[in-house]
Amino acid sequence: MSNAGVTPAATVLLPPSPAGIAEAARLLRAGQAVGLPTETVYGLAAACFDEAALARVFAAKERPTFDPLIVHVDAPAAPVVDALAAAGLVRAAALDPLARARVEALAAAFWPGPLTLVLPKDPRVPDLATAGLPTVGVRAPRHPVARALIRAAGTPLAAPSANRFGRISPTTAAAVLAELAGRIPAVLDGGPAEVGLESTVVAVAEDGALTLLRPGGVPPEDLARVAGVTPTRAAAPRPGAGLAAPGTLDSHYAPGRPLTLLPAPVAALTPAQGDAARAAAAGASAVGLLAFADAGAGERLAALVGRPVVARTLSPTGDLAEAARGLFAHLRALDEAEVDLLLAEPCPVEAGLGHAIADRLRRASAVRTP
Ligand code: TXA
Ligand code: MG
Repeated sequence: MSNAGVTPAATVLLPPSPAGIAEAARLLRAGQAVGLPTETVYGLAAACFDEAALARVFAAKERPTFDPLIVHVDAPAAPVVDALAAAGLVRAAALDPLARARVEALAAAFWPGPLTLVLPKDPRVPDLATAGLPTVGVRAPRHPVARALIRAAGTPLAAPSANRFGRISPTTAAAVLAELAGRIPAVLDGGPAEVGLESTVVAVAEDGALTLLRPGGVPPEDLARVAGVTPTRAAAPRPGAGLAAPGTLDSHYAPGRPLTLLPAPVAALTPAQGDAARAAAAGASAVGLLAFADAGAGERLAALVGRPVVARTLSPTGDLAEAARGLFAHLRALDEAEVDLLLAEPCPVEAGLGHAIADRLRRASAVRTP
């Protein structure tokens, strides 16, 4: 993988102590990009108004500059719109009263937490942070180490997820190192991410209309209840066709190995579906299986396809929060296992966090374009 333009150097793992946080803040103020723990996934943070620092984030991730970053703030006091305007992030005058009311209600309910609001941008926010869009994504994370770092750095932090472009988001400091070691000076270790999936991204239009750009840690039903209206769902855009949210690119959370989403749990495959699974596994010496709840699915699949199976189970009790928390770590582990292809059971629940889990499994299994 090309590393052009990035100075290779040792990457330091900083503890979440006052000294570790102070060192991360010093690096950020000096224009460096630093691994940031949040409750969703780890981010790669840079001072939001420092264009050279933002450029380092894109270089380290090999991320195309048409993909906007999320700006992280310490949870603001109400009225949130005015606080974000005072911070130089949001153009408050652009928002109608209904839009303002919806932002206040959503922030009161879900901040600090896994919700990103896309709002009209203040011209002071560099175009590089927003990919030239007239809007900016803002999130107030609830992870105490993230909050402490934002305060210590004294600036909002622009941060995408800390993976190389198109790969699985990291949920541990070790996973950040696996993605970015040698490309950034430091990762602040805040332990395993509590939610495990990225934030829900909602655009608030100037007239107050809501669009769900990416399902995530805040379930869409909860959004609708608080906002009093069901957000419109963004249609998945085609690459290059004026992206509303590049997180909606189909193949955006892909492991390195090809992943096939099964049409049903292994135990419920019809004979025809079983034949298809056997055909898919025919050329493989071993198969990886991401089971949802069935701890016996691996043995069942091995018997079905006649190949050794390395299986990981998301939640033996079918708990959606547990499944979300471990999803990316299990995918990473399977991706590193001695297997030739990956199969995944579908998420059986289409409610709550099930929306985001199903979305990530679908994207991980999308055929990659070269
Ligand atoms: O949970 C999260 O959101 C994590 C942590 C680090 O906060 N961050 C994250 O960032 O997932 P990233 O860059 O991987 O995904 C951000 C998503 C992308 O789909 C991006 O396009 C969308 O948010 N986004 C950001 N600003 C936007 C804007 N102005 N308009 C539309 N979409 C935007
Ligand atoms: Mg990402």
